[in-house]
Amino acid sequence: MIVVLFGPPGSGKGTQAKKLWSEKQIHHLSTGDMLRSAIQNGTPLGQAAKSFMDQGSLVPDDVVIDLIAEKTDSGICKDGFVLDGFPRNILQAHALDLMLKKRGRSVDRAVLFEVPDEDLIRRLSGRRTCVSCGAMFHLDHVPSKSASACDQCGKALIQREDDRADVIQKRLAIYHQQTEPLVAFYRQQDKLRSLDARKSPEEVAVALSEALCTGKK
Ligand code: AP5
Repeated sequence: MIVVLFGPPGSGKGTQAKKLWSEKQIHHLSTGDMLRSAIQNGTPLGQAAKSFMDQGSLVPDDVVIDLIAEKTDSGICKDGFVLDGFPRNILQAHALDLMLKKRGRSVDRAVLFEVPDEDLIRRLSGRRTCVSCGAMFHLDHVPSKSASACDQCGKALIQREDDRADVIQKRLAIYHQQTEPLVAFYRQQDKLRSLDARKSPEEVAVALSEALCTGKK
């Protein structure tokens, strides 16, 4: 099964995609994680992407389309995968459809995570991420045992550059302008499911399982 998770920044896509991997071994491709890893490793891709990401802008389409094409062609994705953060606009959605069609595949479901903007600002400003393993915490909703160290690997927890208040506002504006049109795109293809992502991570996981198995909402 090929699944697209989309929704505004902070709506919990990454949290649920990681859960699908740890609980159901469904591969998770996050363009945000791939780009952050390239930045951490100081690769040319990372150097090119950093300023876009720090400012909350989208990285150029051709860069992320090439990243996804390379990963989906690898053997680990042959039984299906979950995309988190891609596609992010209509051009990327068409590129994905074309890329999959050439390989005799297609997107099966696109799941929209719905959360109002005011909740997202609270979530993003309280998020803390492990520099090493990428585990995610939240100061109020998913607190780590220690304020500065990751529960899973003990390395440092940081606040992402793009989780500053001014950058969050820009990311939300870009979401509404560029990513929200995907709702109509996937509805027309009869692949859209949506879920109330204001609920707890456990409740959202149940809703996501249902969205992947059942008829359309
Ligand atoms: P990316 O990393 O994809 O960021 P995003 O889409 O903005 O999403 P986030 O990671 O901020 O949020 P999320 O929905 O995954 O929520 P999370 O689970 O973390 O992209 C970053 C940047 O990379 C982009 O701005 C762009 O520059 C570039 N980029 C990436 N893909 C691109 C593309 N395709 N094209 C161009 N550029 C691209 O949860 C957030 C917080 O809430 C956490 O603290 C979590 O613990 C907490 N939380 C999660 N679920 C719940 C819940 N149910 N209740 C309460 N708290 C919760």
